[in-house]
Amino acid sequence: MSEQLDDAGKLQHLLTLEGMPRSMLETLLKRADALVEHAHGGNEMRDALAGKAICTLFFEASTRTRCSFGLAVQRLGADLLNFDASTASTTKGETDTDTLKTLEAMGVHGFIVRHKTDGAVAALARAAIPGTVLINAGDGRSNHPTQGLLDMLTLQQAKGPDFSAMKVLIVGDVKHSRVARSDLHALHALGAGEVRVCGPAPLLPDVASLHGCIVGDDLDALLDGVDAVMMLRLQRERMVEGLVPSLEDYHRDFGLTTARLRRAAPDAIVMHPGPMNRGIEITDEVADGPQSRVLQQVANGVAVRMAVLETLLG
Ligand code: CP
Repeated sequence: MSEQLDDAGKLQHLLTLEGMPRSMLETLLKRADALVEHAHGGNEMRDALAGKAICTLFFEASTRTRCSFGLAVQRLGADLLNFDASTASTTKGETDTDTLKTLEAMGVHGFIVRHKTDGAVAALARAAIPGTVLINAGDGRSNHPTQGLLDMLTLQQAKGPDFSAMKVLIVGDVKHSRVARSDLHALHALGAGEVRVCGPAPLLPDVASLHGCIVGDDLDALLDGVDAVMMLRLQRERMVEGLVPSLEDYHRDFGLTTARLRRAAPDAIVMHPGPMNRGIEITDEVADGPQSRVLQQVANGVAVRMAVLETLLG
């Protein structure tokens, strides 16, 4: 995405992990790992972005991404502005671009944007004045780059830095998942040894976007020997669209249970970006079990977002 890098190849916005050089990904992950100890308290980093104003501009619901970005902004000492789309003048018809320009005029330097429309954050990056930073906190089905980064950090902490030694399985509604897309971009860029993708045919994307992956709908077979299982949220609206027959059928065929997990490597980790549909794509026993890294993913979100903010705005 051309607007992500400046003429010198330096990151000026974070819009996608697609096409991001491996060295840039590794640098961000290394910095995030170093910031883990600062992510949950302390004042050592409070001067890093002092005097900057950063706005969380969310047009879609969020718990993890919005709150962890909010904490990351505050841990780095910047002023945090929370934009609430439900009470803002967008409800009177103000455009997203006019909203951005209005906040820029107040001296906001950075925008963390979640939007239901694919490409909406990139469009705002094109409309912004030079020097304003846009960070994609999830757009449509396209990208969720900081989730991709925190997932890679979680994998690396559990399995070591050599992605070529990892077999990773992604399960569920891959077609509609911006998380899966960002994870796939990152896994390929980091040279993951084997990437497997499992889901019902109506919830799998076109073959071209799964290039280099082992793809199928037999979860038991695909679990065999994997080092990490990344479960995805079943987006329940897909039921209404008729893409999934019933929640019971989905759980039977694609739900991760303790018995199924035994097919993976004995030290395999289980990940889920959240929010989880407990009892549908994942059982309580697995979600809360010893192999689960779900809360570690959440914790890593603060460090990753600090690293991204520091890189772009520091
Ligand atoms: N993983 C994720 O994006 O969660 P939220 O929707 O709660 O931010």
